[in-house]
Amino acid sequence: MEFLDKLVLPQSAEHLNLLHYISILLLTILIPYLCIILGGVLLSLKYFRKSYTKNEVMFLRYAKDVLQIVSVNNFTALALGILPLFTLILVYAQIFHKTNTLYTSDLFLSFLFVTIGILFIYTFRLTFSLDLILKNIDNNQIPEFSVEDLKKLKSSSAKILPRYGYFGIVFLIVGIWILCGVLAAASNFTHWQPSSFISMIFSIKTLLYLLIFLSFSFVLTSAYILFYIFFWNKEKYNIDNSYREFIINDNSKRFYNYSILIPLLLLFDIYLIPKLNLSGNVFTFSLIILILVLIAISLNYYILHKNKINYSPLVFFFTFLSLFSFVTQKEILIQNATESNALVLSAEYDKILAELKGAGKETVINAAEIYQVKCAACHQFDKKLVGPAHLEVLPKYEGKLNQLVAFIRNPVKVNPAYPPMPNPGLKPNEAEAVAKYLLDEYQKQKK
Ligand code: HEC
Repeated sequence: MEFLDKLVLPQSAEHLNLLHYISILLLTILIPYLCIILGGVLLSLKYFRKSYTKNEVMFLRYAKDVLQIVSVNNFTALALGILPLFTLILVYAQIFHKTNTLYTSDLFLSFLFVTIGILFIYTFRLTFSLDLILKNIDNNQIPEFSVEDLKKLKSSSAKILPRYGYFGIVFLIVGIWILCGVLAAASNFTHWQPSSFISMIFSIKTLLYLLIFLSFSFVLTSAYILFYIFFWNKEKYNIDNSYREFIINDNSKRFYNYSILIPLLLLFDIYLIPKLNLSGNVFTFSLIILILVLIAISLNYYILHKNKINYSPLVFFFTFLSLFSFVTQKEILIQNATESNALVLSAEYDKILAELKGAGKETVINAAEIYQVKCAACHQFDKKLVGPAHLEVLPKYEGKLNQLVAFIRNPVKVNPAYPPMPNPGLKPNEAEAVAKYLLDEYQKQKK
């Protein structure tokens, strides 16, 4: 992506700050989407398999419901996945401009993998819903399967269909892995840089980010499915008790199993953050993430053991919030780590701006020349012309450069014997130079 580096202009300090806010926004959209699509498709594939190894129709329905819930429609993939990731490339190209890092090309690779993965997944979804057998699943009724249907399912589609799903998952995970690598390297920018792509991918920090991502993926997906079925789209799903119980149990259990991993991983993450960077904001955010996760875990406990399914929006909300705080914390780390590069870029920006304005070409101000052009028509030092002789009026300005500058920039009426002096229209630095010139000449000539 070197061509990007050539296209990018250095940015002002304000603009660079804004870019960090934009990347928080992009990651807040992108990361949860990737979490849910990955977790959901894995879940769907698992139950799709189970449905024919165990001959259980409910599993098939569950696989289909989950897939539909997490993938919503093609537009979501574009708006929440592909576009934010692409924009992130452009944003990082500006933030890391002139740093000799390969983040933009790595991100582009991640973008390719994620896009191909998503394409496979949406093909999986399409073929799934087109599948003849599933036509029976209408009106959310558990379908009656004929022996033939089941045979067909086992032989053909059961083998071909999930293949798209598996391909999708593999590409998606590789894409996410690279993304984790870039974020790990960027948030440790000043302390550690991987020497190669491979060392970035297999560094402890990258693997930790990936693990945190995967845990969040399972946890957020479970919370989202419960939230979607039992709160958001309550009316759409009038489901019977056994299916209901199954969904609640499956999701709240998975939530529990993976959510208890998160605090441990987060503590390890705090441990890995260089001590120098672990100040103020960053530490506070670590605490906030931990607290939010713990709140979500305890709320989920009520769903799992007390059947309080109306807590599902809260569980989802707190899980989402903790993921958001995690993303924000990483972006703060990146912002702190790139502070010195931001200074370099904004200095460069100022230089370019000055050149554009033509200030760079301006030579030293020639006061004598300005005086000849702008003043000499009305003034002489020892003779009165249109205006008074300088030797007469300058004594009162001795040692009062600022007052003289002020008069030259904005002449006021002084002596009724003269007409008023028109404004010569000098720039501040020109006026100052001329004023100095006048006072210098005056010192020389008064002797
Ligand atoms: C169009 C004619 C004209 C030009 C051009 C002009 N002046 Fe004057 N200047 C005057 C007149 C008339 C006065 C007297 C104004 C008054 O006493 O109210 C004056 C007054 C002054 C005074 C005395 C102010 C005081 O406090 O008594 C200074 C100093 C002066 N001019 C400097 C300059 C300089 C420097 C320039 C060029 C950048 C300049 N003038 C250009 C007409 C001119």
